[in-house]
Amino acid sequence: MKKNILITGGAGFIGSHVVKLFVKKYPEYHIVNLDCLTYAGNLENLKEIENAPNYSFEKVNILDEAGLVKVFENHRITDVIHLAAESHVDRSITDPLAFVKTNVIGTVNLLNTAKSYWKDYSNHLFYHVSTDEVYGSLDDGGFFLETTPYDPQSPYSASKASSDHFVRAYANTYKLRTVITNCSNNYGPNQFPEKLIPLCIHNIRNNKPLPVYGKGENIRDWLYVEDHARGIDVVFHQGKSGETYNIGGFNEWKNIDIVRLLCQKMDEKLGRLSGTSEKLITFVKDRAGHDLRYAIDATKIQRELGWEPSLQFEEGISKTIDWYLDHQDWLDNVTSGNYQKYYEDHYGSR
Ligand code: NAD
Ligand code: TYD
Repeated sequence: MKKNILITGGAGFIGSHVVKLFVKKYPEYHIVNLDCLTYAGNLENLKEIENAPNYSFEKVNILDEAGLVKVFENHRITDVIHLAAESHVDRSITDPLAFVKTNVIGTVNLLNTAKSYWKDYSNHLFYHVSTDEVYGSLDDGGFFLETTPYDPQSPYSASKASSDHFVRAYANTYKLRTVITNCSNNYGPNQFPEKLIPLCIHNIRNNKPLPVYGKGENIRDWLYVEDHARGIDVVFHQGKSGETYNIGGFNEWKNIDIVRLLCQKMDEKLGRLSGTSEKLITFVKDRAGHDLRYAIDATKIQRELGWEPSLQFEEGISKTIDWYLDHQDWLDNVTSGNYQKYYEDHYGSR
């Protein structure tokens, strides 16, 4: 059976890398990118494949049940890779309900659509892309394993944990074939500049303050986004139904050390005197309920599926800075809001 894969959230940061990878690597598949284009959705991310014969875009909200059914029917969807979500912890603190709507109800809508549309479940896969934040905060050492009990601490992670539970419940109750991956913090091209790394790159370039929450002692485990996309490819094709795989780079950094590294590398790249950008570091009020440390044990995916990260962090960070410096138009369009006109300009009149 020909695969017509629905990728949700494909105009976002990680989703756009997954869409590009699948469209280029698998000309025999049809890739349908479903995205309602919230502030985080940017079709400019997909310019290089937007006219590919094996690619379609559907501007649909995962909360729109009838819209989902239409997309499944029109494209005869065989598999789902679900990334659409509200993804920023700070926004979840100001508006938790938006996260419940998209991340929980939206995921259940999608599960329901797949469950009703697919007849013989043995030919189909529902893949849910999730986060390591569902496991809570590692304050006393150790690593997150696939067996670590869920202990979400922010409205964002609570909504993702809930959606993971629904995916498992549908596998158990209705025998849908499902797989879940829980990944650590991603960085790389096309990330919306509200997240730590692109925000700092943007602000360093424009000589604006670099807001470091609390003392900058919180630790995150960083993975280059294309390595995550490769991991999704591997799990989609080789992962065992009903399983969970953690994806991470064994790459822990304190926030303050990352910000200093960015300052140092950007001083070099921008030809500034060493130490210039560090003066922009500004310690600000801590995030409410700020998780101290995340760290993934990615042994299972390495051992069972042979996936491992391809890039060392310093190389990945250097590539990322270069990308943002070379794509000033992308950043300018995002910060001015112009990127939101891309859909109208390219699809509106079709
Ligand atoms: P993002 O915010 O950059 O992109 C999310 C995309 O989903 C956007 O294109 C947005 O328009 C779309 N979307 C949001 N609500 C929607 C709705 N109701 N209907 C249809 N589309 C909608 O997010 P990201 O950082 O690329 O994350 C993608 C997925 O990966 C999320 O599920 C997130 O939880 C997960 N994840 C992210 C990270 C990370 O470091 N960014 C790490 C692990 C897991
Ligand atoms: P973020 O990129 O928002 O990802 P997450 O909260 O999902 O881990 O934040 C990464 C870390 O950086 C987190 O510990 C919060 C911190 N941070 C700051 O110190 N300043 C900022 O302006 C932002 C956005 C984040």
